[in-house]
Amino acid sequence: MNVTSSLMDIALNPVTRDGKPTTPVVYDSNCLEEVCGSCAMIINGRARMACSALIDQLEQPITLEPFSKFPVVRDLAVDRSVLFENLKAVKAWIPVDGTYDLGAGPRMSSEDQEIAYPLSRCISCCCCMEACPQFNKSTGFVGAATISQVRLFNTHPTGKSLKRERLQALMGDGGIQECGYAQNCVEVCPKEIPLTNSISNVGREVMKQAIVDLFRG
Ligand code: SF4
Ligand code: SF4
Ligand code: FES
Repeated sequence: MNVTSSLMDIALNPVTRDGKPTTPVVYDSNCLEEVCGSCAMIINGRARMACSALIDQLEQPITLEPFSKFPVVRDLAVDRSVLFENLKAVKAWIPVDGTYDLGAGPRMSSEDQEIAYPLSRCISCCCCMEACPQFNKSTGFVGAATISQVRLFNTHPTGKSLKRERLQALMGDGGIQECGYAQNCVEVCPKEIPLTNSISNVGREVMKQAIVDLFRG
């Protein structure tokens, strides 16, 4: 049994601590196999996925809380749309011009594939942002997931065409320089994405781009 299946079980007969009927706990979930990223919450004080948190491996009694850095919709459900806004701001997509057949895309080297595959496993759960001390209202920091997606799309042979714009979007307030390199993000990522590696890599690229921009005036 995992946390999500216990919430389902509770929903069959939701009662308060003193046995009075109540409404079931509200939470998000979809795939039940750590792929959709929707069931992230704080379980026993740690940001993680409810569907892969096994009851018999958790210290009892189990404490469930909604993420603290995202607006609560109700109970354990939060609004994580900030991540999707951040991904839009850095153009985290491959540009495809037109609806006609463009033919085969450029080949990707096996070295680049090896870099890109782990980064492509991001499930947009926001655990890395919840755990990050720098992800808060005062910094406006975009967070590790967005930075890692910049690296992913800048590695892609077609995605590279927006590289400069992506790097420029990470300059200034809320950009990559807000990262204090505390490494909480990489510790909680359920997909074991090399986030600190991405942060170092993108940090160097942002610096190089800033120098180029300076000389271009
Ligand atoms: S290294 Fe630290 S400050 Fe930087 S994104 Fe990760 S948790 Fe946040
Ligand atoms: S980088 Fe990891 S922790 Fe962050 S949103 Fe993606 S999967 Fe979740
Ligand atoms: S329900 Fe999809 S990741 Fe947990």
